[in-house]
Amino acid sequence: MSPFALTRTLPADATAAALRTDVSAGLTAEPKWLPPKWFYDARGSELFEEITRLPEYYPTRTEREILAVRAQEIAAAIDARTLVELGSGSSEKTRLLLDALPKLQAYVPVDVSASALELAGHALLAERPELSVHALVADFQQVLALPDTPGPRLLVFLGGTIGNLLPDERAHFLASVRSLLAPGDALLLGTDLVKYEQTLVAAYDDAAGVTAEFNKNVLSVLNRELGADFHPADFDHVARWNPEHEWIEMRLRARAALTAKIPALDLAVSFEAGEEVRTEVSAKFRRAGVSAELAAAGLTLRHWWTDSADRFALSLATLQGAPTP
Ligand code: SAH
Ligand code: AVI
Repeated sequence: MSPFALTRTLPADATAAALRTDVSAGLTAEPKWLPPKWFYDARGSELFEEITRLPEYYPTRTEREILAVRAQEIAAAIDARTLVELGSGSSEKTRLLLDALPKLQAYVPVDVSASALELAGHALLAERPELSVHALVADFQQVLALPDTPGPRLLVFLGGTIGNLLPDERAHFLASVRSLLAPGDALLLGTDLVKYEQTLVAAYDDAAGVTAEFNKNVLSVLNRELGADFHPADFDHVARWNPEHEWIEMRLRARAALTAKIPALDLAVSFEAGEEVRTEVSAKFRRAGVSAELAAAGLTLRHWWTDSADRFALSLATLQGAPTP
């Protein structure tokens, strides 16, 4: 059997139905919104990778720096046989963990982007033919059926992607992560930290316009999947810091009044000039908040590692009551 298996837990028609439900709820709401998971078709995944290389976008390189320094400590805390990664994308930083875990047998990347999983899975196997890779095309906000691989399990959620969930979604997500963990397993969580507004806004509004293209890509997804007739050029990219919620909001703002047709939903959506649709939040965290959210889900923060400039943090958490790793 090939050591690379790609499994779709959601059939294509379930994904299509979820997109229809989200778009009809979000674009008929006041104010309008769309969930960020629909950015990530093949083009969206490529654009995200381009973002990670931008000078303004510090999270990826900062998290990589922390992983490089701490990989051995992480491995000493949890000698995992299975590494499960949610929202794995290119799995690029994950290599630092794969290299540090001597007993690792299985890697389970989970992502909504089948193209990202294919690319990452094949690249990894070329480098590590001994590893068994069970890729899952799945929505990590739904119940996950993980393959039966040996424990202990290290479940990782990197990049700060948890910040793309709204607070009630985060609570629900962390509770379901908790239900995937057994005593002796651990969660490694990447969170971007609160910092100067200027630094944050620049990271989401880069000079080269790559983030703007990533933001507008959701309109191309709606055009292709739902037959909509959005013109991305009719919208401006907006990235704004919300100090009350301590999150960046990405929005698309209509340059002029317009109506877009979405035939698959039998819907016409009107925008006034200047009207915005919120396409993403990217929450920034503090240690106390991360610790409290983990505790509310039945998890205990055991380690908190940051870079020297306190830009980004990695947390290691275990089930409440489990011995300290
Ligand atoms: N972990 C990588 C990629 C982060 S980009 C890194 O740190 O660089 C966010 C990734 O999460 C994308 O690959 C996207 O396809 C995936 N994603 C977003 N929402 C998702 C969801 N609801 N379920 C599964 N994957 C999701
Ligand atoms: C995937 N996620 C953590 C990114 C972020 O920073 O919130 C997505 C992104 N949006 C704009 N740029 C990058």
